[in-house]
Amino acid sequence: MSTTLADLVAQLDAFRDATLAQLAVADSLDALEAVRASSVGRTRGALNDYKAQLPKLAGADKPTFGARFNAVKVELEAAIDARHAALSASAPAAAALDLSMPARRQWRGAKHPVTIVLEEIEGIFRDLGFTIATGPEAEHEWYNFGALNFPPDHPAMDMHDTLYLERGGLLRTHTSPVQIRTLQSYPPPIRIIAPGNVFRRDFFDASHAPMFAQIEGMAVDEGISFVDLKATLANFANRFFGETKTRFRPSFFPFTEPSAEMDVACRICNGAGCATCKQTGWVEILGCGMMHPAVLESAGVDSQKYSGWAFGMGPARMALQRFGIPDIRIQYDSDIAFLEQFAQ
Ligand code: DAH
Repeated sequence: MSTTLADLVAQLDAFRDATLAQLAVADSLDALEAVRASSVGRTRGALNDYKAQLPKLAGADKPTFGARFNAVKVELEAAIDARHAALSASAPAAAALDLSMPARRQWRGAKHPVTIVLEEIEGIFRDLGFTIATGPEAEHEWYNFGALNFPPDHPAMDMHDTLYLERGGLLRTHTSPVQIRTLQSYPPPIRIIAPGNVFRRDFFDASHAPMFAQIEGMAVDEGISFVDLKATLANFANRFFGETKTRFRPSFFPFTEPSAEMDVACRICNGAGCATCKQTGWVEILGCGMMHPAVLESAGVDSQKYSGWAFGMGPARMALQRFGIPDIRIQYDSDIAFLEQFAQ
């Protein structure tokens, strides 16, 4: 090795450049350690060889080279430290990144079938000129029964198997009280539907739940007849289910006279008979009737001048039919596998 100062400095600089280049491509902590050991390493480091040349230089050149040597050493050690820090920071992330891993599944929210049905029913009746009304779930007994022409101790009240509240009042057993509240607030002509939850102590089976949604409907005006009722509800059924057969059976409700129940041909068996329609081929979807004059009068409406019809239906049952769901209880289970089928 040459011993002139210029040569030695040139060699030292070349070594420095080569080492910096090796550091730049050292892509792991192991590779970095190899570069460190072979450059500034105490036993095997090549930098030691340059120090060993020092005694061969002329006396005046020694401090010049010594300063240069120290500067290179400090520079290389700093570069090694920086590279070490950079590789340590990225090393765990690099290890955790598995490009073959399946992408995380994107969950899409879905509306509950009862919500889908509710919104559709609301849309159809809105098209037919009805507006939406609401009333409280905790209700006075009078609105739930008395005003609706239930005589005190009428067996129909047992039928509802009411949840009474400790401090008086009850949880409404149907949405029919909204008829009274609406008539008290607005003068006829009135066409409303009133969606809401209702509560009964019914046992829980394939078609009964203790809390469920209902939709009440009511039309009050001069000269309203059963023809309006039948035409409107049959029209609704055709819009909701697509062309469908409907039938009206005589029934009884204290608040309507005459009263009826409307059936549609069972969608699950197409009228052939199955467990859902109890082998009849028909499914009841609503109760309806001409509003009893006593109901109009209890809400302050002149029953000589006005008449009206009303209906009440259960969207959970409508959803069974609409989507071919065999058991109403599935709708209350929050089962993701069931619910996500309704994502639109
Ligand atoms: N309120 C009745 C029930 O819960 C349903 C009903 C039947 C409502 C006939 C009506 C109606 O408005 O006219 O069983």
